Amino acid sequence: MKALVLSGGSGTRLRPITHTSAKQLVPVGNKPVLFYGLEAIAEAGITEVGIVVGETAAEIERAVGDGSRFGLRVTYLRQEAPLGLAHGVLIAREFLGEDDFLLFLGDNFIVGGVSGVVSGFRADPCDARLLLTQVPDPSRFGVAELGPDGRIIGIEEKPRRPRSDLALVGVYLFGPAVHRAVRAIAPSARGELEISDAIQWLLDEGLDVRSTTITGYWKDTGDVDDMLEANRTVLEGLEHKVEGDVDADTEIIGRVRIAAGAIVKGSRIVGPAIIGADARIVGSYVGPFTSIADGVRLEDSEIEYSIVLDGSSIQGVRPIEASLVGRAVEVTPAARTRAAHRLVLGDYSRVRIS
Ligand code: TTP
Repeated sequence: MKALVLSGGSGTRLRPITHTSAKQLVPVGNKPVLFYGLEAIAEAGITEVGIVVGETAAEIERAVGDGSRFGLRVTYLRQEAPLGLAHGVLIAREFLGEDDFLLFLGDNFIVGGVSGVVSGFRADPCDARLLLTQVPDPSRFGVAELGPDGRIIGIEEKPRRPRSDLALVGVYLFGPAVHRAVRAIAPSARGELEISDAIQWLLDEGLDVRSTTITGYWKDTGDVDDMLEANRTVLEGLEHKVEGDVDADTEIIGRVRIAAGAIVKGSRIVGPAIIGADARIVGSYVGPFTSIADGVRLEDSEIEYSIVLDGSSIQGVRPIEASLVGRAVEVTPAARTRAAHRLVLGDYSRVRIS
């Protein structure tokens, strides 16, 4: 059994972060979201992994390397443009051969791993096994329609009137019949080869498509709110460990991880929160569900329920919440002459000013 991880795409919903870097490498709990998926794949006993990459190929390859540190053997498969999830399967034909495989969306986050479903599929293979989960807002997802016997009878992509509240989780198990499906389907109205159309094709051909409904936590980290929620979930399970240099004027409350090399002075850190190596936190408040990456400088500021990526600096700004701050960003207050906001923002930035 192999795994195919989709790590290309355009990431429009996470602009401007995705203008300069891959969304699969945005960290939750200071670890790229993609790494949680690779760890889950290794834990399920799969070692041969194909990673589909697009424009951000170099960055993904730099981060993941040959996969050996995850216990994996990684082959990179270049997708010339984000032409759809089923197109990712199409270009992986040679790599996958006739093997069964796990298809994993590189920006999806699943708690509890995939070992159970992978061993179930090994013991009792079929043409496709889909993972489903109940969601409150099914029209944002691929939705499955189940017959009275619980079998899947149809799949709809982002339906306006969903026939169930069971969304497709970004993890699928396939046998080799899916290769015929991805060759047979045509691009959708948005110009992509849709995996839901490939599954519908398998159903229409009378092939054996089954499903497992999971109750654990799953998140598609496609936008900022999802990313912050995934970060919150990771931090819920954080173990307290302070290795950095924390002075006597700092108050630490709850479960907080402070990496070696970090310096914290005269601050209040309320967990769960994580502070990366060589970060410098001075005279600041870091509140619950905040991940501060390596080398971040935070001075005279307040932040909570947020993610700050490496090398950024926030000075004299309070309060900040529900924010995703990219790499090497500078946030400072304007001079106090006038109550005006001065902004230098990348294309597609989203800023909410109260
Ligand atoms: P999506 O989140 O569905 O698509 P996207 O990355 O283009 O994002 P947006 O909707 O914000 O523009 O993709 C799910 C995963 O699959 C993600 O890790 C990117 C990857 N992917 C590919 O590798 N190739 C593709 O052609 C597409 C569409 C996605």
